[in-house]
Amino acid sequence: MGKQLTDKVSWVGKVDWELKKFHGDEYSTRKGSSYNSYLVRDQKTALIDTVWQPFDKEFVKRLKQEIDLKKIDYIIANHSEIDHSGALPELMREISGTPIYCTANGIKVIRGHYHQDWNFVTVKTGDTLELGGSKLIFVEAPMLHWPDTMITYMTEENILFSNDAFGQHYATESLYNDTVDQAELFTEALKYYANILTPFSTFVTKKIYEVLNLNLPLNMICPSHGVIWKDNPARIIEQYLKWADNYQENRITLVYDTMWNSTRKMAEAIAAGIREIDSSVTVKLMNSAKEDKNDIISEVFRSKAILVGSPTINNGYLFSIGGLMEMMKGLKFKNKSAAAFGSYGWSGEVIKQLTGELENSGFRVVNDGHRALWVPDETELAACVEYGKQFAKAL
Ligand code: FEO
Repeated sequence: MGKQLTDKVSWVGKVDWELKKFHGDEYSTRKGSSYNSYLVRDQKTALIDTVWQPFDKEFVKRLKQEIDLKKIDYIIANHSEIDHSGALPELMREISGTPIYCTANGIKVIRGHYHQDWNFVTVKTGDTLELGGSKLIFVEAPMLHWPDTMITYMTEENILFSNDAFGQHYATESLYNDTVDQAELFTEALKYYANILTPFSTFVTKKIYEVLNLNLPLNMICPSHGVIWKDNPARIIEQYLKWADNYQENRITLVYDTMWNSTRKMAEAIAAGIREIDSSVTVKLMNSAKEDKNDIISEVFRSKAILVGSPTINNGYLFSIGGLMEMMKGLKFKNKSAAAFGSYGWSGEVIKQLTGELENSGFRVVNDGHRALWVPDETELAACVEYGKQFAKAL
């Protein structure tokens, strides 16, 4: 059941190969995920985080095969979201008096979820818990990504238990970062950052430097999802610092929806215009009704600029564009340019609406957008190519 990481630390989590959606229907997990729980055995024993509630019985049953539950001295709850705290009720039925170490906000969140008055111990940044030879050091990390979040460092083994930070929704049996497909791993790590951590980038940078300034030796980063960063753990820290710093690549993404292909034809012509001006830029077209919304967000995250297109219907834009605009508003992208386009038949107010939404979402809108009446003919397509050129020049 458990997988030994060091003499004193073992992984006792759950790999969920079947998970295809996370956060309800909000996050696609085509590569599955894992809920990493860690058992630290020194003179004292601590369990760091548990697993998602559907696996609670399985988790406790397998944990019993690993250790007499009564020998667990402390439970550390780095984060109270249900994918990490979900097995607590099942576990606490067995060891109801065991202290649960978490932040003050953690207590509120756990009580709010499970309505139990367990034996909570509040910890703050710098607090330590002696385990015998080693000790745990707690660092609060509010809004990374919930107000209750903290991270835990173990001395001697030099392990950072980072919870969601540095995680990925990625199922693997081999656990370590150097044992999996690197392209898959970094695609999932970026997707996780783009879709979950983007709004908190300022906190990410600040917290990373706060931890680095402690000058703690680091052998491993053990997050609560996906691989354990054992081979060169500094690499993912450096990558996070880049992602948190208004990340962009030389990419432009056109996101559109279309009813009778007019807006799609516009998108293709605009893309051709962009490429005429800048042959080095990577241009990608994504139909928001057909593509995975989280993949679109990953592409937006990587882009220096986006164009958003929709025809006008019922004085507004299409359903899939509406959802995407709401996601982008919440994620608060910075340092990205944008503009709108789309076809129309009579009222055609979508371009103005999308332009306003992009501005409200923090994009630098470079022009008033471009719209085309009915189906674009050759003249109109040439105008779209020209619009693409002007957009590229404005960046
Ligand atoms: Fe993996 Fe915020 O829970």
